[in-house]
Amino acid sequence: MVSLAAPAIVARLSAAGCVFADDEAQLLISAAQSPAELISMVDRRVAGLPLEQVIGWAEFCGLRIAVDPGVFVPRRRTEFLVAQAIALARPTALVVDMCCGTGAVGVAVTSAKSDVELHAVDIDPAAVQCARRNVGAGGHVYEGDLFDALPDGVRGHIDVLIANTPYVPTAEIALLPAEARLYEALVALDGGADGLDVQRRVIAGAPSWLAPGGFLLIETSERQAAHTIEAFSQAGLVSRVQRDEHLDATVVVGTN
Ligand SMILES: C[S@@+](CC[C@H](N)C(=O)[O-])C[C@H]1O[C@@H](n2cnc3c(N)ncnc32)[C@H](O)[C@@H]1O
Repeated sequence: MVSLAAPAIVARLSAAGCVFADDEAQLLISAAQSPAELISMVDRRVAGLPLEQVIGWAEFCGLRIAVDPGVFVPRRRTEFLVAQAIALARPTALVVDMCCGTGAVGVAVTSAKSDVELHAVDIDPAAVQCARRNVGAGGHVYEGDLFDALPDGVRGHIDVLIANTPYVPTAEIALLPAEARLYEALVALDGGADGLDVQRRVIAGAPSWLAPGGFLLIETSERQAAHTIEAFSQAGLVSRVQRDEHLDATVVVGTN
């Protein structure tokens, strides 16, 4: 008989390597609607699924964002990208969340700036379905490959183009924690040989989609930032790097 007592759950989670077993046990207990669901949730977490996919949501920028199985779990460091976007978005700005995953970035921007017009894009149908749930009536979510998915009327009118693309080099996917490697879609992680394939396509396409004076913001890593900046200048965009040491977050911001 499996015990549903909190200490027993904590012990199972700790044995499975969960560092924050106490906190996770409390979250699982409060998320489960029935004893059977609690057992199933603990089993899935012990098997290695990300906590957020087990309970069905992630906390991001103080919001509760729905996370479906297989969809990229929004990372705490990406809150820095959101903060940069909020600082640049005028009240009625047209904002695009490119490679939106759950839609967390766009939702966080609209929750801070309720009058912005949000368009979000992802190529993965599971992510699009999840983003539609999170964005709701607060914006438009399209399925497709980068700019191809956007309505043509948006071309030349984007005030703030935000992108957290996949940026892990292919050879480093095998080194990722199992939570990401096994339970997040490869298309959400794999950025090609040097990790920057999708980023470069976004940067190259941005000038014809940005409004005059519009901004492109891309999350990258400290190690890759010089290459990201190079791609901005090749596209004719003037850029700067914003860095938050505490979150280990790096964002390149460019304008035309
Ligand atoms: C690193 S995840 C980021 C998700 C989300 N922006 C966030 O920060 O939580 C990258 C996302 O890009 C999407 N993606 C990858 N290639 C794409 C493409 N060519 N066009 C649109 N979306 C793409 C993936 O499906 C995935 O959801």
